[in-house]
Amino acid sequence: MDISIIKDKLKKYLDEDRYIHSIEVMNTSIELARLYGANEQKAAMAGLLHDCAKCLPYDKMMEMSFKYNADIDSIMLKEKALIHGPLGERMAKYIFAIQDLDILMSIKYHSTGRKDMTLLEKIIYIADYIEPGRSFSGVEKIRAKARVSLDEAILMAINNTIQYILSKGALIHPYTIDARNDILRFT
Ligand SMILES: [Fe+2]
Ligand SMILES: [Fe+2]
Repeated sequence: MDISIIKDKLKKYLDEDRYIHSIEVMNTSIELARLYGANEQKAAMAGLLHDCAKCLPYDKMMEMSFKYNADIDSIMLKEKALIHGPLGERMAKYIFAIQDLDILMSIKYHSTGRKDMTLLEKIIYIADYIEPGRSFSGVEKIRAKARVSLDEAILMAINNTIQYILSKGALIHPYTIDARNDILRFT
């Protein structure tokens, strides 16, 4: 499917702010792919589609998760914001006709991270965190770090995310702990 067709189709699933965010994640992903020697077309596609399931109402999310057999676990059922990763992967495959496994896994794990992330998965994870529309305190530091070390930038992002989750008293997905331990082990 041509990228312009995918963009038109994506607009039907996202509100305007989320669509703009998706374009910015796509652009940031392309830039990081160029910097780190990843495939720019794959980075563009994964960045564009990473949040394709994000704007669906909860009952529709559940319906689609069931229909496409999305890989949803009990923690995601409690922390509903995590559902759009695995469901987004299924939608990318069955609605946007994406076949490439690396693109699909980058979408699936973009909010939790996981152990042994591929280069593309790391790029999408951090592009989502630092795209130009993000404005939380400390984002500039992580933006700068992402141009020097993807792993260190991801570690900063995960540490922030875990602190935020703790402050809310929410569940931490084990994939996020795995991602953090994995990076700490090898940096
Ligand atoms: Fe997301
Ligand atoms: Fe996102």
